[in-house]
Formats: sequence, structure tokens, C-alpha cells
Amino acid sequence: MIRVALPKGRLGNDVYDRFAAIGYSCPELKGNSRKLVFEDAEKGISYILVKPSDVAVYVERGAADIGVIGRDTLLEYSPDVYELCDLGLGRCSIAVAAKNGWKDNTALPLRVATKYPNVAKRYYAAQSREIDIINLHGSIELAPIVGLSDVIVDIVETGTTLKENDLSVVTRIEESSARLIANKSSYMFKKDSIDAIVSGMGAFAK
Ligand code: PRP
Repeated sequence: MIRVALPKGRLGNDVYDRFAAIGYSCPELKGNSRKLVFEDAEKGISYILVKPSDVAVYVERGAADIGVIGRDTLLEYSPDVYELCDLGLGRCSIAVAAKNGWKDNTALPLRVATKYPNVAKRYYAAQSREIDIINLHGSIELAPIVGLSDVIVDIVETGTTLKENDLSVVTRIEESSARLIANKSSYMFKKDSIDAIVSGMGAFAK
């Protein structure tokens, strides 16, 4: 039995469709229930529905054998897992953004609002730029608008949120997409089953 941690939401649905297409369907998962665990014993698969930012925790600790997570989250938390393949879904960038027309005052530490403090610290350390990290959990774009920060380091997908709030990208730091990850000992003990899933997923690669 392989247990898969799926991120709740659209990405999870898209990933599940791929699993279903390669023979690991579990139709109950597409229903409207509030269940969190779905299992098909015959196909040897079970799915757990997890908050996207928690997928790495379930996989790293072996509560799930494999899972799907954005590269952005892998870069931020550096979980001790294997990254098996790029699913090519959920493409986005991690970018620095600021109010339109913003100019950096390098005489002062840069106030950076973000839910990616490690990514932001690494990026600015590489430039020897002194920063003041402001940790937020959502609606990051609000911070420069109300003067809480000079810039944000956040995900940009379509760019709509930035545009509608008179912000723009200053620099793109990293590119992200959904990755299939595995618990290290699960991969050792269930290598054949996991490899079969990885090669099935490869059929979607373009
Ligand atoms: C993410 C991200 C941006 C937005 C970018 O937020 O933090 O706010 O999506 O998408 P766009 O470029 O397509 O507009 P999310 O929806 O996860 O909510 P959050 O503000 O609670 O983090």
C-alpha cells in the first residue's frame, strides 16, 4: 500500500487526476465529502488530504510515503525527503515585488515582508544587503501598500494580485512547480511501486 499526501485544493485535484489516469483512481475522493482519508485496497493506494504547507511534514516523518509539494515550499523548509520528479503543474515564481515606482534606499536595511523568510534571507545574504524580515502568513501584498514593508518576497502566478494592488515585480528569485517527493525509507522499501508511479507521471511530461 502506498500512501499519498495530496495538497487540498486545485493542485491536489489536478494531481489526483494524473494518479487516476495511470491506474490509481479512488472516485470517492472527487465527491463532496469532508473525509480526509481515501483508500482503494485493491489498487494498493491511499490518499490523505493535507494543507499544502504541511505535505512535507507528513512525508518527512513517514506518515505518507509520497506527496506533492511546490518547489517554493521545498526551498523554504528544505525537508529531508527525496525529490522524485517535476509534475509541471502549479507553475509560479518566487519574486521580490514593490509598489510601482519604488526606489531602494541602500543606506537603510530593507524591510521585507514574506512567508518565505529562509528564501528571502538567502537571496539578500548573497547580495550582502542588510534586511529586516517581517513574517506574514497571507495577503503579503498588503504590507508595502500600508507601509509595513518596502518590498515583499512572495509567489507570483498570473500577476493579477500585484497588478490590482499597484505593485510590480522587481526581480524573480526562483521558479517553482509541483514536485513529487518521497519519504527516504519508504523509497527504499517500496522502490518498485514508487518508481512505477514516477514513470507513469513521466507520461505527462512535455
Ligand atoms: C498567493 C500568493 C499571492 C497570489 C499570487 O496567495 O501569495 O498573493 O497567490 O497569485 P497571482 O499572481 O495569480 O495573483 P494565496 O492565494 O495562496 O493566498 P495568501 O494571500 O493567503 O497567501
